[in-house]
Amino acid sequence: MTTTLIDNIGLLVTHEQERAERTGASLVIEDGVVAWVGAGSPAADERIDAGGRCVIPGFVDSHSHLVFAGDRSDEFEARMAGRRYEAGGIRRTVRLTREATDEQLLANARRLVAEARAQGTTTLEIKSGYGLSVADEERSVRLAATLTPEVTFLGAHVVPEGVSREDYVDLVTGEMLDACAPHSRWIDVFCETGAFTVDESRRILTAGIARGLGARVHAAQLGESDGVRLAVELGAASVDHCTYLSDADVEALGGSATVATLLPGVEFSTKHPYPDARRLLDAGVAVALASDCNPGSSFTTSMPLMVALAVREMGMTPAEALAAATLGGAAALRRTDVGHLRVGARADLVILDAPSYVHLAYRPGVPLAHRVLSTSPMLAS
Ligand code: NIG
Ligand code: FE
Repeated sequence: MTTTLIDNIGLLVTHEQERAERTGASLVIEDGVVAWVGAGSPAADERIDAGGRCVIPGFVDSHSHLVFAGDRSDEFEARMAGRRYEAGGIRRTVRLTREATDEQLLANARRLVAEARAQGTTTLEIKSGYGLSVADEERSVRLAATLTPEVTFLGAHVVPEGVSREDYVDLVTGEMLDACAPHSRWIDVFCETGAFTVDESRRILTAGIARGLGARVHAAQLGESDGVRLAVELGAASVDHCTYLSDADVEALGGSATVATLLPGVEFSTKHPYPDARRLLDAGVAVALASDCNPGSSFTTSMPLMVALAVREMGMTPAEALAAATLGGAAALRRTDVGHLRVGARADLVILDAPSYVHLAYRPGVPLAHRVLSTSPMLAS
């Protein structure tokens, strides 16, 4: 058994019930698990001197699309010049993804995983959704499963070219689900105008749930949608985007176990208004922040950027934004072993090159991850 002491921590965020953060604390890790938190410097095999820095739980990025090929910076450039975001751009990435080899897809995904890790992400969900055929979706979830246990089957991203809606929903709920379920923990659907209707989404999610997958939903990205209440009705772990919400949506979320996952990288990249996190928090809704890293609507792996945007644009305090990017992401993945540093948690943490996590928003765009400790094999140093 190896023990590691991290001491001389200026500010330690544990998300303990009684006190979320401590000053002047130390932490002991035993075999990859937080074994002790307190004052003083108990004996250990190794010692890491935090040098007065702030230590936070590793970020839990509960929403990304990292299995893809190609670049869509031209669409971003056009949007910055006033063009609207359209979900149809997904099909462009589908064409390029299908043409790529397994090695190319994996190399690209690995590069992005490494990029996320360098910024403090220690748990990462990855979705399929740029294959949209049985073979290409199976390949996407199979490759994603080599990178993370949090794999989401998103065959229902859009209806691909050359296939009728009816036939495609049959395929997603039949042969494609059969091929993808063994590699996946979750099923997701893009419930939005231009993608799938509420009825189609219900059918797809129900089929996935019957196969033992947990449900997640993309909804209310481009406009209000009954997809939010569908997510609540089906007991989805998370409904993601939540940019346009009615009062009824907020009320339904407030009384549910479904997390509202906000993805401000999308609003940054599409010029849509940022979601109102304050409204959700005040209504008692559990909120997560995630990157939605994908080549179309949010090509960033940076969780610190999500925290900065949430504080600057969405009415969250720095403490709320940090909690949403760690504990909130864990709740969105129904994980209790990550997102916090209470005794018993996985020792996934970030030593920030800053005295406080407030600097994540105060110093936007600055690489503040001094050291990242991760117990996930793909996210380890
Ligand atoms: O999460 N909402 C749907 N899917 C992605 C966008 C994908 C794309 O434009 O390629 C998202 O924003
Ligand atoms: Fe997404």
